[in-house]
Amino acid sequence: MADFLIAPSILSADFARLGEEVENVLAAGADVVHFDVMDNHYVPNLTIGPMVCKALRQYGIQAPIDVHLMVKPVDRLIGDFIEAGASWITFHPEASEHIDRSLQMIRDGGCRCGLVFNPATPLHYLDYVMDKVDMILLMSVNPGFGGQRFIPGTLNKLRQVRERIEQSGREIRLEIDGGVGIQNIAEIAAAGADTFVAGSAIFNTEDYAATIAQMRAQLAG
Ligand code: DX5
Ligand code: ZN
Repeated sequence: MADFLIAPSILSADFARLGEEVENVLAAGADVVHFDVMDNHYVPNLTIGPMVCKALRQYGIQAPIDVHLMVKPVDRLIGDFIEAGASWITFHPEASEHIDRSLQMIRDGGCRCGLVFNPATPLHYLDYVMDKVDMILLMSVNPGFGGQRFIPGTLNKLRQVRERIEQSGREIRLEIDGGVGIQNIAEIAAAGADTFVAGSAIFNTEDYAATIAQMRAQLAG
């Protein structure tokens, strides 16, 4: 069985009690903390930055923090997130002037790096960097907000990326973000994803452990 990772998006957590929320969702069985950074420029919403990442580390969170940068420009924030304790950093290639450089900056800082593709962003950005990415994140909604519906065409795109990963012969995680829940996680895994971001599907439920257990049960098929 593939090793599947569940990455709750803290965008849907209670920000007034963020440390506790993250602690609870990890205790409930989550593997990774998905950290959505929005700048009101690249996407029409404004969220959290490196200070909050650092605060989570100081609070004692030890799980990997998966920083999803929805910002333009990209490079200015990379160093700050490395210092703040990020583990993985992904960005949208069309938001970076120099994709190879941004990836290299992340790697040089000791973090894992990856590219994020919006539903209509072509995959050709991968052409010359397959040997440099540790993960590929496909958006299954347009970025900016939690609680949107999964765009079905993403399943085909997942299959295409999975094929490219197999061809590369490298270990590259394939992450999916947007509209993921108990009802569609099995289908998404079948299309090739191995890392599942879920915000509202987890944080809008009463019992995080029960929700994550149901997701894993779906994945176990
Ligand atoms: C959207 C964010 C997602 C979002 C997912 O721009 O990147 O991580 O929070 O939320 P759900 O799971 O509710 O679609
Ligand atoms: Zn995200």
